[in-house]
Amino acid sequence: MAFIKEEQIQEIRRRAKIEEIIGQYLPIEKKGRSLKCICPFHDDHSPSLSISTDKQIFKCFVCGTGGNVFQFVEKYEKISFQEAVIKVAQMIHYPLDVELEPSKKPVNSKYLPLYQVLNESIAYSQFQLDSVDGIQVKEYLHKRGITDDQITKFQLGYLPRTHRLHEFLSKKGFSDEVMIRTNLAVVNEYGLHDVMSSRLTIPIHDIDGNPVGFTARTMDPRDDRKYINTSETEIYSKGKLIYNYHRARQECKRQQETIVVEGPMDLFAFDKAGIHHVVATLGTACTTEQMQLIKKLSMKIILCYDGDMAGQHAIYKAGKIALSMGMTVFVANNKTGKDPDEIINMYGKDELIMIVKKPMVWLEFVHQYHLTHYDLNNYNSKREYVSIMMNEIQMIQDTFDRDYFMNQLVQETGFDFIQLKSLIPQEKKSLNHPTLIKRSRFSQMDGERKAQYEIVSQLLLSQEAYRRFKDELGFLVDDDCQAIVIELMEYYRTHQTMELADFLNCLEEERLQQLILDITESELFVQEPNMDVLLGAMQKMKDCLVRRQVEQLKREMHTIQDPVLKTKMVEQYIQLLKKTKKEK
Ligand code: UTP
Ligand code: MN
Repeated sequence: MAFIKEEQIQEIRRRAKIEEIIGQYLPIEKKGRSLKCICPFHDDHSPSLSISTDKQIFKCFVCGTGGNVFQFVEKYEKISFQEAVIKVAQMIHYPLDVELEPSKKPVNSKYLPLYQVLNESIAYSQFQLDSVDGIQVKEYLHKRGITDDQITKFQLGYLPRTHRLHEFLSKKGFSDEVMIRTNLAVVNEYGLHDVMSSRLTIPIHDIDGNPVGFTARTMDPRDDRKYINTSETEIYSKGKLIYNYHRARQECKRQQETIVVEGPMDLFAFDKAGIHHVVATLGTACTTEQMQLIKKLSMKIILCYDGDMAGQHAIYKAGKIALSMGMTVFVANNKTGKDPDEIINMYGKDELIMIVKKPMVWLEFVHQYHLTHYDLNNYNSKREYVSIMMNEIQMIQDTFDRDYFMNQLVQETGFDFIQLKSLIPQEKKSLNHPTLIKRSRFSQMDGERKAQYEIVSQLLLSQEAYRRFKDELGFLVDDDCQAIVIELMEYYRTHQTMELADFLNCLEEERLQQLILDITESELFVQEPNMDVLLGAMQKMKDCLVRRQVEQLKREMHTIQDPVLKTKMVEQYIQLLKKTKKEK
């Protein structure tokens, strides 16, 4: 990845308002003068993450996570610092000459023969589409509205009756072993035979674009195995693969949205309608691992499964997984009961585009979904419905949406607002509240540690304080504090004034960043430049140092025999003692 200059990083940091960037991921609430939101880094229910617009930093007072705008994006997206800088630059339209293209991972050489045999098989299947048997498959695709460009783009093909692929690959010099390892062939009582035969084939790739297997559709309407997929291999794991991920990646990131469909045919329908930020989960069950991959593309998803009952269940399950990961979930506004591929063919492109351009918010979907399962004319059923809906409403971070749907529930059920509120479980107030631990940690800490934190807090406030410190003390005994001092030296060498959010970038270790945030946000420390505080703390440090020297001398004097040296030490000792007395 290209190198981003330090000045550019600073410039981006300054131009990007942290509240606006965080606001693109999470709804922000204004509470008095401060901005707050639900913390995405722990299981938060009331907004605990506060954003300081002055300092341009964020900090969660429950889990302690904090940092500047880059660190937020880095942690939220689970990407590298460089990637976070690029992402923020894109968000504020800062012209940066580097691409967000993920660094192409080197191919694991162990799998190279597997990728090779799959690539050969794809080429073979593409070629077979023009064979005597294959031509009907091509016609079938055309009939379903798939264009030749799409056939090429998605590498669609046909694998003929069994043994042909095996024969072809053998002639090309591939061993039976690699064919078995890729599940292109299996052994049965009659020997080796092809897994996918007499079927339309759709190659599947991993997130880096390496070929890993096929999903293949039968041409025989009586075959109850409509699609067969490569079974688990070293490189193909169904629950961890997303169809079209490598092709859709850029577009999903650009649009900050991902449309999730069930099958490749649905995806081809969107492709034809000019919508390319689409991935397929290959079947209705979306796993947590699959959702984790989708989350890397965008925080927002639009679920667009079949309009039938199975599709609705699948949406509900997938949506819940996404919500629990802090994602924002929309559901395609599909009133047709059909899947996207049927929609485009029956109602046309515009209808398909409409269902994703005007999607339902999650609660709208959930409301419809649960309503089909309960009878509001029956009191007991109504109570159950209310309680399940309150649970759903609670999971949503957007307070506006929450109020709206609570009101809707009031009107729909005749329960009043207070009754509904009583159904919200009281937030558990755990004794192990991390902030409380931190508070007591600070208040119980010994004087020397407290003095060091006081010094650090002052050094972070002014260069003047730093100069004074450098001249009069120059170092701290705590390793972390000393590491911060060293970084500060470099920072003040190149900067006139302290911008905390910039300084955080200079620290590579997260532990140090957290310590700084704990100190600068703690009410135990004076948060404005104050020379008396600095001098007082430095004096304390000096006292501690002298006391330590006295202790050491005392220990050494017992072991020294040489009378001259011993006298010298005693003199030194008396001098030091005087010093401590004077200072008291
Ligand atoms: P559907 O039965 O809805 O298929 O299954 P579809 O996508 O509409 O397929 P077409 O339009 O008839 O060609 C949804 C998804 O479930 C998986 C496939 O990934 C399919 O796209 N599936 C379905 C299987 O893996 N095996 C099957 O036998 C059926
Ligand atoms: Mn279909």
